[in-house]
Amino acid sequence: EKSGYDHFMEKEINEQPQSIKSALSGRIKNNVPNLVELENIKNFIKNDLKKIYIVACGTSYHAGLSMVYLLNAYSDLDINIEVASEFRYMNPHVDKNTLVIAVSQSGETIDTLEGIRIAKEKGAHILSMSNVVGSTIPRESNSVVYMNTGPEIGVAATKTYTAQIAILYLISAQILFYREQYSTEIKNIVSKLEKIDEIFEEVLTTKEHIKEISRQYVNYKNMMYVGRGFGYTAALEGALKLKEISYINATAYQAGELKHGPIALLDEAFPVFAIIPFNGLKEKMISNIMEIKARKARVIALTSSEDERIKEIVDDYILVPNIEEALLPLAVAPITQLFSYNISILRHLDPDKPRNLAKSVTVE
Ligand code: F6R
Repeated sequence: EKSGYDHFMEKEINEQPQSIKSALSGRIKNNVPNLVELENIKNFIKNDLKKIYIVACGTSYHAGLSMVYLLNAYSDLDINIEVASEFRYMNPHVDKNTLVIAVSQSGETIDTLEGIRIAKEKGAHILSMSNVVGSTIPRESNSVVYMNTGPEIGVAATKTYTAQIAILYLISAQILFYREQYSTEIKNIVSKLEKIDEIFEEVLTTKEHIKEISRQYVNYKNMMYVGRGFGYTAALEGALKLKEISYINATAYQAGELKHGPIALLDEAFPVFAIIPFNGLKEKMISNIMEIKARKARVIALTSSEDERIKEIVDDYILVPNIEEALLPLAVAPITQLFSYNISILRHLDPDKPRNLAKSVTVE
């Protein structure tokens, strides 16, 4: 049941240190991925794989996008991603040398299912990832990695999202390992990933601070999330979570896109949630924030270090542990989830049952 929490969503956010551990359990040995589920396609991955295509919807698409950033940064593999409802109607360029990865928590999403059917007809290998054993998408795939993260009751995906990212990273690492392209950088990410539960514990200790900040944002009608790189994928998911359960119009942009249009929206009534990168792009993000502040928008900054310059220009400040850039979407997730949860509660809504939404979407 709810184990003393008011809502399933709150419980599922808080159990992420355990759920991620269970998702990763037995799947890393000596900093090397040990995904036995991929063994039957090992030779294909090693000898024939030329292109990877991720197909997913909603939150699962956001998890997939983090894998795209990972493989682009740390390999020369050709990696693509498309929302399933577009993929299935776009004549996707997949063939017998393509690995299509279907990411679906429920394993029943109709667009994702139809997407893999089309890819299969064209000869692609299908690898799927689901949290529901025996669901339809896994049954129609060549290989399946189950998320092992326990059932998720809240309609808004929380712990399944973080498990998806973690497993997609392991799949990436496993592919590189089979192809003898397992670099020290990837090995380092895998070893940090193995301890991500500790990062979740640490992030969850800031719960009260996040609640205080959330109170400042309850009555806005609009909100923008911005990030760069891995922070951008985190921004997309943050915005989706907020709109789903608080009905605030929240959108996400790559920070560099602001001046190409979206900045026209900003004023004192339009706050911005800025996810600041840890790497070389930090300085660029600081100048983006200065442009945002010049429009008088309120800014919450999420960053990894005490930075006086950032503190001076923003209105609210949330610290995340300093980790590998690639793990940013994981470290940020419990924070944006709690932020949305708090706002939903403060608006007297039921975060477990958002209007117009269902846990699995089996109709088009
Ligand atoms: C958002 C959410 C949805 C799902 C999407 C795909 O919180 O849960 O966006 O991620 O409907 O569902 P699955 O992963 O079951 O294919």
